[in-house]
This record gives sequence, structure tokens and C-alpha cells, in this order.
Amino acid sequence: MAWEEAGRGWGARAAEWAYLFEPYARSANERVFELLGVGTGTRLVDIACGSGLAANLARRRGAEVSGIDAAEALIAIARVRTPDGDFRAGDMFSLPFDDESFDVATSFNGIWKGCEPAVRQAHRVLVARGRFGMTFWGSFERLGLMPYFLKVIEHSPTSHGAASIEQGDTGRSGVVEEMLESAGFRLLQRGSVDVVNEWPDVHTAVRALAAAGPSVPPMEAIGYDAFCDSLSEVLAPLCDDDIGLRISSEFGWVRPRSPEHSDRVNAVAPRSRPRERPARPVSRSHGGRRRRVGSGPRHTRRTLRRSSWPRRRRAGTPGARPGCRGPR
Ligand SMILES: C[S@@+](CC[C@H](N)C(=O)[O-])C[C@H]1O[C@@H](n2cnc3c(N)ncnc32)[C@H](O)[C@@H]1O
Repeated sequence: MAWEEAGRGWGARAAEWAYLFEPYARSANERVFELLGVGTGTRLVDIACGSGLAANLARRRGAEVSGIDAAEALIAIARVRTPDGDFRAGDMFSLPFDDESFDVATSFNGIWKGCEPAVRQAHRVLVARGRFGMTFWGSFERLGLMPYFLKVIEHSPTSHGAASIEQGDTGRSGVVEEMLESAGFRLLQRGSVDVVNEWPDVHTAVRALAAAGPSVPPMEAIGYDAFCDSLSEVLAPLCDDDIGLRISSEFGWVRPRSPEHSDRVNAVAPRSRPRERPARPVSRSHGGRRRRVGSGPRHTRRTLRRSSWPRRRRAGTPGARPGCRGPR
């Protein structure tokens, strides 16, 4: 089933995602929480919450937090990070929460173009006058991680590469506005915020990037080692001997008007309807895709997990400048 498969991809290297990647979005998490007035007693749900760093930041502001993500392994980390939160493994297209049970719903790069039913679900679980905010990749010109995405596209099956490009399209003017409107929201504010991936060396950067869902199809196609080598090549020139890598990208954010009960009449399907699905296929990395996009055989993922790449690279990454070598 689609969301479970997405969860397995995102959860395959859960600790790497949680500790080497997820902190990059902190500035965006804080900006959105500020905009939505998250504070003491706010009932907040973070949709596609990953390993729960954003939810933990909201908890530190005094919110009562819940989160849902397709990846069991990421949810396990979220639970440890915020023991009094309510974290569930599940599908954002069918949220396991009651109607009108949250003051705030957020999603940080978790809902993309093609995932409109997840926005409708956010609308459904918000109280009247509740607040919703979501982020997505900003302009391509300000996407410091572009060399990574180009490698993903280069080594992925064509269908997946096309889906990745479409997901990047979420930030194009008008796209997210349409998504919100289709769910019964009306845009109130839109803006951008810079996020920065910080890594001490190329080896660590590659470990982090290999943990992201979009890396799964290229790794299945060419193998973990080959994909990591290919990433090392494009990351090495970005590494400063003294500073390491600091890769800045832009997130866009939107904050629609609070829903009114009357909005729900046309926008939200009754709960008794069959589970909602995206209207059209989206990347498997978001669980909406129905057909298999990876070309590798079934056993490939197990093979990838056993890869010796991190161990071999501990002695240094070929192509990286000396100060950018991995830990010994
Ligand atoms: C780019 S990550 C963002 C994670 C987190 N929000 C963050 O900021 O680090 C996308 C997340 O969406 C989750 N995801 C993908 N499809 C999903 C689905 N159908 N339902 C719930 N979560 C899903 C993945 O497991 C992954 O954790």
C-alpha cells in the first residue's frame, strides 16, 4: 500500500534523517509557529511530522502536540523526543483524528502539489478559527540543494524524476493557492524563509542526503555506493576546509485564513466517505503513487542497507578537499 511504502523509504535511515538532516528546517518551524501564534495550551498537529523535531519545538512553546508520519521508524524517534506527544504512524490522506480537534495544523515540506486531499484533512481536523501553515521548497534559484536534486533526477527512473520536478513546482506562484482553495482555505499570507543544511564534511553530508526519501529510487537504480559517490562529486566543491558545508535554500510558507464552519459544507467530504486519495499520481516518496516507479529488484533495499559505503568512506571521501574529510 502506497503510504506504507513511502514510510519504508523515508524510514530506512531514520537516525540519519533525524539528526543529520531535520534540524535544517528549524528557522522555518519557528517562523511558522510564530505566525500561527503557537504557545501554551495550543492543540497542534504536525502532518508528515518526520522524526518530530518541529513538534518538539512547538512543545517547548507550551503546545500540546500530535504528529503523524508514514514512517514508523521516524515516529519512534518523535516519541522519544517528545514523550508526552501523541505521535502516530499513518496516512496524511486519512488522518486518524476527530473533526475539529486542533487549534493549529502544520506541515513542513510534507504536503506537495498533488497532495490536495491532505490539505482537506488538515481543514477537517481544525476547529473553526483554527490556523493552518505549510512550507515547501522556494524558488529554484535559491535552492542550494539543487545539485542533490539534479543527481536524484539523473539517476532515477524517468517517471520518478518527472514527479520530483512537479513536487518542486509547489512553490510556483498560484499552485499552492489553488491547493488551499480546493480544500476550502483562502490565502491570507505568503512568504519565504531561508533554511541551512550544515555539515562538517562531505561524508556526513552524503549520509544525510542518502536518508531523504527522494534518494531511494536512484539508490535502487544504481546502488547505494554509486549514488553516494556521485553525490560526493557534486558536494566536494561546496565544502570549505575550515567551515565545512553550509548549504542555504529557500522555503516558501503559506498561512490561509482560519476556516469557518460554513467553509466545510462544500470543501470537506463527510467522514463516512471512502478514504481520500490524491486526484493524480504523485511521487512515491509521498505515498500517493500507485504504480511502482523503482526499477530495481525487490531485494535491492536489503542490499542497500548492508552497504559498506559509510564504513569505507570513514577514511575520507575521494574528491573532497582535505578539511572536508569524514571522521576517522
Ligand atoms: C520532506 S519529509 C518532511 C519531514 C518533516 N516534516 C520535516 O520537516 O523534517 C516528508 C515526510 O513525509 C512523510 N510522508 C510521505 N508520505 C506520507 C503520507 N502519505 N502520510 C504521512 N506522511 C507521509 C515521509 O515519511 C516524510 O517523513
